[in-house]
Amino acid sequence: MHTPPTPSPLSQDELKALVGRAALAHVVPGQVLGVGTGSTVNHFIDALASMRDAIPGAVSSSEASTQRLQALGIRVLDAQAVEGLSVYIDGADEIDGHGFMVKGGGAALTREKIVAAMAQRFVCIADESKLVQTLGAFPLPVEVIPMAAASLVRRFAQLGGQASLRLRNGEALVTDNGQHILDVRGLSITDPLAFEDQVSQWPGVVTVGVFAHQKANVCLLGTPAGVKTLTY
Ligand code: 5RP
Repeated sequence: MHTPPTPSPLSQDELKALVGRAALAHVVPGQVLGVGTGSTVNHFIDALASMRDAIPGAVSSSEASTQRLQALGIRVLDAQAVEGLSVYIDGADEIDGHGFMVKGGGAALTREKIVAAMAQRFVCIADESKLVQTLGAFPLPVEVIPMAAASLVRRFAQLGGQASLRLRNGEALVTDNGQHILDVRGLSITDPLAFEDQVSQWPGVVTVGVFAHQKANVCLLGTPAGVKTLTY
């Protein structure tokens, strides 16, 4: 008897491409949109090229996304020239059942939070590996003023976290804003709103990668069965 071949499962990158394309349905024609950063967003930006004449432009969350948008002929607008955005589309490192997220794996968390805060709706695009019960398994990115790094490492240790400076080519990574990133392992973030409030107040913290106040309103989750839409 002939058995039809089992279709090979989609790779993580194919799931990212799937949700990147699905996010086009959330772009509002005639309105400026906010664009995040990362490999999932790169797929979205590539798909957005087909709509470039339908939107006045985008506010970008990183130099990398700006370059990609401009290379595809999509106008990038200064955040300060825009009063508000209807939608912000970005990926996540983790997202929970409330739409709370950990972000910053691509070191763009500060601008991501700024642009997200300008938008009425946050549409998160992610492959299913990003969906978690509790935030914290992914090392939490925190953008910090370099002179505060050592004291912040000690503060995270008091919370049970092990913070380390993110390196690139053996040197401290420098963000688009000229600052450094700590990645904090060993945390279990059971109250993301309170955690974001607490850490944001520590002197020297520029941005903590918990997005609770700027949580997702919708998540397009890439699964082998297709795109699942989760609303919060
Ligand atoms: C960048 C981010 C990204 O959204 C996050 O790291 C997910 O990235 P990817 O889409 O490459 O998995 O927060 O700072």
